[in-house]
Amino acid sequence: MRIVKKMASAATIAVFLLCCYFIVSSGSQADCDVYAATGSSFTVRLKHVLKDSDSLRWFKNENLIFHRRSKKVIIGKNDDVDSTGSLKLTQLTKNNTGRYAPQIHRADGTSAGDLPSVRLCVLDRVQKPNVTMTCTDKGHVNFTCSVGQNEKITWFMDDEALEEKEKTLTREIKDVLKARFSCNVSNSVSSEISLPVQQNCYATLQKPHVTVNCTGDSEVTFTCAVSQKDNYVEFKWFNKENKQQESGETLTKKTKDVVNTRFFCNVSNPISYHISDPAVQNCFKPSFPTELLGISIWVFIGGGAGLLILVIVTATVCCVRARRKRRI
Ligand SMILES: *[C@@H]1O[C@H](CO)[C@@H](O)[C@H](O)[C@H]1NC(C)=O
Ligand SMILES: *[C@@H]1O[C@H](CO)[C@@H](O)[C@H](O)[C@H]1NC(C)=O
Ligand SMILES: *[C@@H]1O[C@H](CO)[C@@H](O)[C@H](O)[C@H]1NC(C)=O
Ligand SMILES: *[C@@H]1O[C@H](CO)[C@@H](O)[C@H](O)[C@H]1NC(C)=O
Ligand SMILES: *[C@@H]1O[C@H](CO)[C@@H](O)[C@H](O)[C@H]1NC(C)=O
Ligand SMILES: *[C@@H]1O[C@H](CO)[C@@H](O)[C@H](O)[C@H]1NC(C)=O
Repeated sequence: MRIVKKMASAATIAVFLLCCYFIVSSGSQADCDVYAATGSSFTVRLKHVLKDSDSLRWFKNENLIFHRRSKKVIIGKNDDVDSTGSLKLTQLTKNNTGRYAPQIHRADGTSAGDLPSVRLCVLDRVQKPNVTMTCTDKGHVNFTCSVGQNEKITWFMDDEALEEKEKTLTREIKDVLKARFSCNVSNSVSSEISLPVQQNCYATLQKPHVTVNCTGDSEVTFTCAVSQKDNYVEFKWFNKENKQQESGETLTKKTKDVVNTRFFCNVSNPISYHISDPAVQNCFKPSFPTELLGISIWVFIGGGAGLLILVIVTATVCCVRARRKRRI
């Protein structure tokens, strides 16, 4: 009974180890001794002093790819090895990935023993990455690096390395208004760094324009209009004495309190601000006009009275004269 149990647990362990072995070996890059870039050349060194009488074989993953016996090439080309018998691999493609092993037999047929093999991996060089910027809501910005699979990434903010190793970096916009972000991607054969990118979530504001609207019987509403309207614009109102009134896009007042008050609005975001021209209400007109055609009303009143007196005087004079004539 106990023996059976032990055997069972041994089997479990064996299966477990087997699984581990497959998990590890399936990540092919973990099995490389040497990395080389696509298109480059690599020479697999023969760590043995070759004699002319020796027979040399090179294997790639158990396949015989080169065989030379007593200086006569039987498999492969003369050029495949150099004068020391090292294997020359040129114009590498991913197909050249594999385990390269030499074998040497002396003239009498005896083996020269186990010689070291090399596991070569051929990878493409990384492309120069790009950083893209996305303004997210609530005042955040994302920077995303165009990193490929199996490539490592590091971030720089104003040429200083950051901790983050992820593809996307999130920051509060107000913390990085002018900061330059770039990413460095690398694999075992190369590395490239992107051009730096800055946030541009905030627009530079233009001068705002104030419009006046008469609301209800006795109220006036000033509206501060901006051409670009994003979520981050703040509005502030001032009167002529530069006393801050209220914030918000509109300002509503009792008309009689602000008959001649000049209002300005200040629009701002974290990178710029602008101030409007002043605006005065035009809803409330005093019931007795003090001016007509730009001429004071008293001119008209005075002129009218003078005219009246002239008419009366003229009439009186005429009457008196007429009466005298009749008497004569
Ligand atoms: C890789 O090898 C396969 C078969 O050996 C061949 O069909 C393919 O064209 C090769 N690819 C390159 C890029 O050499
Ligand atoms: C980066 O952008 C350039 C130009 O748009 C493009 O040619 C290149 O392939 C991009 N790189 C990556 C890694 O996406
Ligand atoms: C910004 O990045 C965060 C974290 O990676 C992600 O959850 C979010 O969806 C991204 N937002 C946008 C708009 O890309
Ligand atoms: C990019 O990262 C690689 C790998 O970590 C490193 O060798 C290389 O020096 C880095 N490049 C720059 C410009 O920092
Ligand atoms: C003024 O009020 C009218 C009616 O409520 C509205 O149609 C108009 O757009 C307003 N004008 C401004 C500048 O707010
Ligand atoms: C307008 O608002 C901005 C941001 O609050 C501020 O820096 C600036 O001084 C204000 N300008 C005036 C004239 O009040």
